[in-house]
Amino acid sequence: MMEKEIQLLDKDSLMVLKFLKENRNEPEDVKCIAEILQLSIEEVEKALHTLEARGYQIVYEGGCSARLLHLPETLFPWDVEDGISTRFMGRVVRAFEEVDSTNIFAARWAQEGAPDGAVVVSEKQNAGRGRFNRQWVSPAGKGIYFSLILRPEMPMSQVSMLTFLAAAALAETLAREFGIDAQVKWPNDVLVKGRKICGILSEVKSAKTKGKAEYVVIGIGINVNHTKEDFPLDSLTSATSVQIETGKEIVRAKLLQKVLQLMEYYYEEYKTTGFSWLRDRWMERNCTMGRFVRINTNTEGFVEGETVGLSEQGGLLVRLPSGELREFLAGDVSIGSANFR
Ligand code: BTN
Repeated sequence: MMEKEIQLLDKDSLMVLKFLKENRNEPEDVKCIAEILQLSIEEVEKALHTLEARGYQIVYEGGCSARLLHLPETLFPWDVEDGISTRFMGRVVRAFEEVDSTNIFAARWAQEGAPDGAVVVSEKQNAGRGRFNRQWVSPAGKGIYFSLILRPEMPMSQVSMLTFLAAAALAETLAREFGIDAQVKWPNDVLVKGRKICGILSEVKSAKTKGKAEYVVIGIGINVNHTKEDFPLDSLTSATSVQIETGKEIVRAKLLQKVLQLMEYYYEEYKTTGFSWLRDRWMERNCTMGRFVRINTNTEGFVEGETVGLSEQGGLLVRLPSGELREFLAGDVSIGSANFR
């Protein structure tokens, strides 16, 4: 176990940062900032130095009016918490420079009592985990590698749908924020033109009460500011990133806020309206239905057929060439041509 947590900012620096963010268009001089925030001039100057040392680019116009020019590259926890409009998701964030896997840390923190909606995020993962024990390549500063801890008051059968909820919310966020045509591939990959842009790995700890979860860790990896060179050679044709798709460098803290906001909205709706609402959201963004697929089932080898629906357990409903309707609860899907019949 090897982790380096990002040191939190002191209270004065947080206050000054918030002020600078809110007044980017109307810079104030240090004396005014001190008066407004009820700090001494020395305290404001010290805070400004602290912020500069953390990578915030501040310019002094007319000699003393401080303007925040650029946020640093680092995904700081206070930049995620600041201005987020969620009720509980992402209200408490622990951020790391490096960690083995945010999922592993989140599970440990959940055992120790992390609150519902807490988030663990890291600049880099040394042992990022994917589905089927695959590795999740997590180069420093490029992606958003995070785990969301939930303590859902719902039966286990509904808990399994949270991964679908995350996938649908991720794809929808990328579409709304960047106009990217992101689609979900069963069970929970998010793809753009067949290339993976987000992956999700959920892990559940059952509660002592039968059929309930003590907590769920939803681990999400989003390829954000990766360039082609950041991917290993063998995934060049199967992976993409927000930057590759848009040609723009993305502020990761803002994107993480947007993802959490939509996930929370989907979560609240799912809790009150149930499966059909969530299935509609997932269906709107999916690229799996009505397709000829090949499923690597891991238990009975490869099975082929046409996808016809999503079951209440999140299973993929497939019509086999024999006419039999089968439900698959796990597996790796390769998609063939549309409307193969
Ligand atoms: C997959 O598609 O195989 C799932 C990938 C999940 C990767 C994320 S990155 C953050 C979290 N921590 C991990 O170790 N894995 C998940």
